[in-house]
Amino acid sequence: MKNEIVVDKNPKSSVAEAIRIIRTNLEFSGIDKKVKSVLITSSIPSEGKSFISSNLATSFAQNGSKVLLMDCDMRKGRLHKIFGIENERGLSNLLLEDIETSFKDFIKKTDIDNLYLLPKGVVPPNPSELLNSPKTKALIHVLSDKFDYVILDGTPVNGLTDSLILTKYVDKTVIVATLNYTKTNEFEFTKKSLISVGADIAGVVVNKTADVHSGYYGNYYE
Ligand SMILES: Nc1ncnc2c1ncn2[C@@H]1O[C@H](COP(=O)(O)OP(=O)(O)OP(=O)(O)O)[C@@H](O)[C@H]1O
Ligand SMILES: [Mg+2]
Repeated sequence: MKNEIVVDKNPKSSVAEAIRIIRTNLEFSGIDKKVKSVLITSSIPSEGKSFISSNLATSFAQNGSKVLLMDCDMRKGRLHKIFGIENERGLSNLLLEDIETSFKDFIKKTDIDNLYLLPKGVVPPNPSELLNSPKTKALIHVLSDKFDYVILDGTPVNGLTDSLILTKYVDKTVIVATLNYTKTNEFEFTKKSLISVGADIAGVVVNKTADVHSGYYGNYYE
């Protein structure tokens, strides 16, 4: 496993503390019903969606919850690399099977107790269409039933419909933005697009803000 899982490798760091604050906010964000599924998205590439989703999923697992981390970036997803897990078969392959009977065959245990990964699988020719199928909705429903939390690592909103589709199937959406990198108009476009499809936005994580003590820091605003 790579050192990117700071909540495991460096739990006392300010980044790990910020991740735990995001977790607590999510735990308390469901008013009528408990939040079970959370999509992590952003405006543009490299803002830290995979970093935040994998650390957040680990943090939920460390807190005693049974967690599934789902790599929904079927094009460029790298969660299997972060956790050192095979990607021969994953989400793209599972969506072609009978969900109820075969989902267990595609989910892998990670080195973190209580944390399971559904890797992205082979790159399909039509990722957006696959995500738009009723099977994806059914899959998230089944997984939310079997796990305490399902964390979805998505694609950027600018230029791709994948994450907009997924918001329909999850309880909450978190937007990651990077200080001095994400442009205001890009962020505004993302927010508007998510709102227009009815996404329930839990908050915005401002990632990679300079912190004199640790080099990197994450912040959370509602
Ligand atoms: N808070 C942070 N502290 C240190 N490194 C970070 C932090 N956030 C992200 N990174 C690093 O920045 C790089 C890009 O992050 P990441 O892959 O998570 O972005 P992404 O939004 O998932 O990108 P993509 O759109 O390509 O999927 C990675 O090398 C990651 O380890
Ligand atoms: Mg990513």
